[in-house]
Amino acid sequence: MGIIHISSFLSYCFLALCLLCSLEKAFALQRKDLKETPSSQHTHTVQLSSLLPSSICSPSSSVAKDKGASLKVIHKYGPCSQLHRDDGDHTKSIVRQDQARVDWINSRLFKKSVPAATVASNGTRYEQDATTLPAKPGQVLGTGNYIVTVGLGTPKEDLSLAFDTGSDLTWTQCQPCAKSCYSQSEAIFDPSKSTSYSNVSCASTDCSQLKSDPGCIEETSTCTYGVRYGDGSYTEGYFSKDRLTLTQSDVIDNFLFGCGQNNGGLFRGAAGLLGLGRNEVSIVEQAADKYNRLFSYCLPSTTSSTGYLTFGDSGGGGGSVQYTPLITLSRSASFYALNLFGISVGGRQLEIPPTAFQSGTIIDSGTVITRLPAAVYSALRLEFRTEMSGYPLVSTDVELFDTCYDLSGSGRTVEFPKIAFSLAGGATVDLVPSGIMYDLSDSQGTFCLAFAGNNDERQLTIFGNVQQKTFQVVYDVGGARVGFGPGGCS
Ligand SMILES: *[C@@H]1O[C@H](CO)[C@@H](O)[C@H](O)[C@H]1NC(C)=O
Ligand SMILES: *[C@@H]1O[C@H](CO)[C@@H](O)[C@H](O)[C@H]1NC(C)=O
Repeated sequence: MGIIHISSFLSYCFLALCLLCSLEKAFALQRKDLKETPSSQHTHTVQLSSLLPSSICSPSSSVAKDKGASLKVIHKYGPCSQLHRDDGDHTKSIVRQDQARVDWINSRLFKKSVPAATVASNGTRYEQDATTLPAKPGQVLGTGNYIVTVGLGTPKEDLSLAFDTGSDLTWTQCQPCAKSCYSQSEAIFDPSKSTSYSNVSCASTDCSQLKSDPGCIEETSTCTYGVRYGDGSYTEGYFSKDRLTLTQSDVIDNFLFGCGQNNGGLFRGAAGLLGLGRNEVSIVEQAADKYNRLFSYCLPSTTSSTGYLTFGDSGGGGGSVQYTPLITLSRSASFYALNLFGISVGGRQLEIPPTAFQSGTIIDSGTVITRLPAAVYSALRLEFRTEMSGYPLVSTDVELFDTCYDLSGSGRTVEFPKIAFSLAGGATVDLVPSGIMYDLSDSQGTFCLAFAGNNDERQLTIFGNVQQKTFQVVYDVGGARVGFGPGGCS
């Protein structure tokens, strides 16, 4: 401002005398422009209320697509969901559970050589190696936060499934729940009522598609499956086939899924899981002929809005999708890996040693908070805190976060630095406000920097679902690329 006043003053004085001086005034204004434009380019100024969910559902209009099969995505605990309506606020428990998922993901990389499959007396083997973490009742599983509704069987029964790019096998709880089923909001799928249901026999090639050796009930030659998740949740039962209905016009016959007879843990409410991983048994591979291994989704900015999951089309209109190569990690081919090499905060690239991301980066729909290598996280935190020095830092009881602010006294708008990811192939993902600041919903106006550092340098960098909010995220497995388009849900 000072520069303007002085130069204005000078130019007024000499205006009549000197053309050069008015040129100087123009120059000074230009400098002012240069000084201000970058700051608004590099910060978000948002209404605090825009970061908060509303108590009523306001569905997005972006669901209808002309191509492909599109399902509506809702947040399990938001007002658009039938599940867990009166169950209080889950914001903190979601974050607490998130670490269990991250530990599970990393354990799948490091336990490869250990013969971890557990064989029960009836032949059930657990498909994936497990970390054993206690499942505490009443806690919430991060894996299950985004839900789609699909139809199973003939006639079809509607089932709300958590969708998960970090898992392969689709499963649902099944009658007669021989051992145990948890409570779910819809009727439990009853295979005896479906004319298109069949068991998979132990000798079939379908049975051998299960990742590790499947189990078998010898008397009836029924192929069995079992999966344990990192938080202690589990499902096991018959490996089965039935008709899966995505939309009226999109039906997958003989879809292989787990018909769960013994299910427990933290999936409460949802009927099971829709596996979008890269293994043969995932829906992406099972429907490869139909959808060409292409799907996309948009996760809504708050729990009170909706998004979509579309198969066979890259999703929303927009068009400005930026792509980065899809990579396969040799240690676990099931994950969607990509090459993240830089992060900017407020327009400045963090100084990160080139080896920082060498353990690999995956994008995961089920991990909530993005995990970064410790050194990268501290650089990010330092820069963010510096830019946020005008707001009071507070401590919270959520261990995962160490950079939280009390924004209650800041009026209705807040300003914070933009954060962008630089991905191989020239893609830049400029995170939206709700992908940077996580609302702790404690009514105290506490918001946290929505990132966390890994504590072991062998751990993966994980591009989590908070950071993916509102992007049209395109998984083009056939084209070996992953894309990000802004404004996907709107
Ligand atoms: C599937 O296998 C189970 C276990 O052998 C059996 O109880 C059930 O009746 C079978 N269902 C069908 C439709 O064959
Ligand atoms: C197999 O046996 C285990 C351990 O006894 C039991 O928990 C599970 O329900 C059985 N699975 C099936 C498919 O019957």
